[in-house]
Amino acid sequence: MKFDHVGVAVKSVEQMLAIYSKIGKFEVRQTEVPGQKAKVALLKAGDTSVEFLEPTSEDSSLAKFIRERGEGLHHIAFGVDDIEKTTADLRAQGFRFIYDRAVDGKFGSKVNFMHPKSTGGLLVELTQRGNE
Ligand code: CO
Repeated sequence: MKFDHVGVAVKSVEQMLAIYSKIGKFEVRQTEVPGQKAKVALLKAGDTSVEFLEPTSEDSSLAKFIRERGEGLHHIAFGVDDIEKTTADLRAQGFRFIYDRAVDGKFGSKVNFMHPKSTGGLLVELTQRGNE
């Protein structure tokens, strides 16, 4: 298991990119993840990334998160080789997940989220990278 990225909930990806382009030269990739109702910008920093997430719909859990807790740290993500196996192993230990099965993430990845109630309050994403 490797650290993959930190997810940050923001109101405007564009605004964050304007700020962070002044902080350093990051390789930036942008996309939209319809299943999460989110616009995503990924700033690569070495082997890990910062992921800015902007809600594309007011009824998304991301929009609700920003309304209730403001912009800021949303989740941390670990990379795994086999998400279904890792999820099954962790479920067997009593960990709870948001989705029954992994869902489509950005750039062809498969993701699932561990419920904050079983991880000490922090949303933890498990991600199996795609080929993109
Ligand atoms: Co993420």
